[in-house]
Amino acid sequence: MSIHSDAPAVIRQEVESLRRRIEHHNRQYHSLDRPEVSDAEFDALLVRLEALESRYGLQSPDSPTQRVGSAPLPGFVTVRHELPMLSLDKAFDEEELRQFEARVIRWSESEDDLEYCCEPKVDGVAVSLLYRDGALERGATRGDGLNGEDITHNIRTIHDIPLRLAGERFAGTSIEVRGEIFLGKQGFAAINARAREAEGRTYINPRNTAAGAIRQLDSRNTARLPLQMLCYSLGQVEGMTLPNTLFETFDLLDQWGLNTNADRALCAGAGQCLSYCGKLLQKRESLDYEIDGAVIKLNRRDLQQKLGQTTRSPRWAIAWKFPAEEKSAKVLAVDFQVGRTGTITPVARLEPVFVGGVTVSNATLHNMEEIRKLGLCAGDTVIVRRAGDVIPKIVQVSEEGAGREAVVMPGECPACGSPVEADGEVHFRCHAGLFCPAQRRQAVEHFASRQAMDIEGLGVKLIEQLVGSEKVRNVADLYRLTVEDLAGFERMGEKSAAKLAAAIEQSKQTTLGRFLTALGIREVGDATAAALADHFGDIEPLLGASIESLQEVPDVGEVVARHIHGFFSRSDNLALIAALRETGVHWPLGQPKEPDEKPLAGQTFVLTGTLARMTRNDAKAKLISLGAKVAGSVSKRTHCVVAGENAGSKLARAREFELRILDEEAFLAFLEEHGGAA
Ligand code: IVH
Repeated sequence: MSIHSDAPAVIRQEVESLRRRIEHHNRQYHSLDRPEVSDAEFDALLVRLEALESRYGLQSPDSPTQRVGSAPLPGFVTVRHELPMLSLDKAFDEEELRQFEARVIRWSESEDDLEYCCEPKVDGVAVSLLYRDGALERGATRGDGLNGEDITHNIRTIHDIPLRLAGERFAGTSIEVRGEIFLGKQGFAAINARAREAEGRTYINPRNTAAGAIRQLDSRNTARLPLQMLCYSLGQVEGMTLPNTLFETFDLLDQWGLNTNADRALCAGAGQCLSYCGKLLQKRESLDYEIDGAVIKLNRRDLQQKLGQTTRSPRWAIAWKFPAEEKSAKVLAVDFQVGRTGTITPVARLEPVFVGGVTVSNATLHNMEEIRKLGLCAGDTVIVRRAGDVIPKIVQVSEEGAGREAVVMPGECPACGSPVEADGEVHFRCHAGLFCPAQRRQAVEHFASRQAMDIEGLGVKLIEQLVGSEKVRNVADLYRLTVEDLAGFERMGEKSAAKLAAAIEQSKQTTLGRFLTALGIREVGDATAAALADHFGDIEPLLGASIESLQEVPDVGEVVARHIHGFFSRSDNLALIAALRETGVHWPLGQPKEPDEKPLAGQTFVLTGTLARMTRNDAKAKLISLGAKVAGSVSKRTHCVVAGENAGSKLARAREFELRILDEEAFLAFLEEHGGAA
């Protein structure tokens, strides 16, 4: 970007030169891991640049001084992708890959053994970067592929992304680069260690954390995370001629100072592609980023153009998906855990085993029926399966243990000793409620969690101490804690106690949806809570609502209505709500919303197959909170079918009726677009 200012030419030149040098060192340090100067020398350059920019009014958005982030934006602006950001078809086995190859050969009217560019499929978030005259002008999310969000302010904080392209010949050009933003495994472990220490809680996985980070309105939050980017293609390009192959294009991106994946390879024919995928699978654990397969793309651009694309995906590329990983492990014991609402769940304690990218030492067995179906006893060896970021699952007993012991539901709650009672055929429950320390602890944890009252710094360890010492007997007690009380606990200095007290105070200012979530009513997660808040506008009408009127809320069926009604019928719960309000917890009053004001009002969805990144219930709740109806079967009147993996007859019917079908990725983008993202 040129510099317009009255500053003397010599100063302008120095500013230009400092920016170039800083960007060069930035790349050497962050992207190439080959620092050429010490941290102190680097800082000195930055300090000098900052001083000159501020003294002579030479600040510019593409200056490296801007990488620390700036004040929050009021909202996101929509960006239209001139060339849609497509999704990829998937191949799960050799046969599907060979079919892909056969299609490519047929469509391109070419010989066998065309060249393909194979790359790891990075499990991150797709973005588009626009460089005009070589300067970074805009960064955008993929969104639904046609419309994304402007995230330029966050993109500028990512050190992997040059603010200007290296080289000279960019005048008059407009270059759109696409790639994946992600958090490396090491970076993720480091921020989780920090979060555990500071807040007592951790982020679930690198992908979701990266997705959350690039959609921050306050870019200072983004700047705190070590996000990285690998570029994999060009979008719309004007004012320059491009090479005819992807491989040469990658070299060009490298020369411009953009990061590309060094683990790419040129493979002739499906055979070589398959052996690339096999090797990549072996290498998977040693890579510093999460991958879920490989992307196989036809190398020649002229052939890519000849093949073209469907509305969803290009015909010249395919994603090879890794199979779910399976390992065997010994079941050391089966313990019973008490959940927040008293459900007692059997959990297998395993000999630690590394599967699907993580070390697994516990696996939920869900309920006694599951144990019966598996025929599992403590001491057996089992097969553990884990795919992507899905929770590990025990799929079968592979070897019966010598001294195997049958698993028996205890007669007394392992946490409080109250009698355990059957709840239907397969579930068991401790009814002691907040008298049970396990339930009390989890009630407080849930109350303080991000989606509820969001009390930063109130971590699991501290909650254990607060509940254990009886300082906190119910959640209202949290608002009675003083800085002195807090400072008395382990690992709590004066400073962190004061900070936590301020966070507790701050949490009093909340929303009705968060407050309802925080109460922990059975089956009422944040989506249902938001729907209740939308519908009733305030808590009084909700307290008096009948089971029938509760069912008018889009997200609420009879069972949930009974839970809500039951909760508000208990005097101890009403007393707790009153106590919380007395301590100053408050929310702005909402206007009860008419259901048809919601974005998906009047539309019917059907969910089928397995979703990897959310449970079916969550997906359903999200859709309902956006006003949609979720039906169990597909008809001509269905608006859209969300098809996870291994979808069967419902998907076939949807195809037959030519309905709109969203795979998981498209569904997530769709939710994001309609404001229903997690
Ligand atoms: S090429 C037409 N290369 O996978 C799309 N995509 O399922 C061309 N992805 O949205 C994409 N690593 O975000 C390509 N090396 C890679 C990739 C990659 C991850 C993501 C990308 C895309 C999704 C498609």
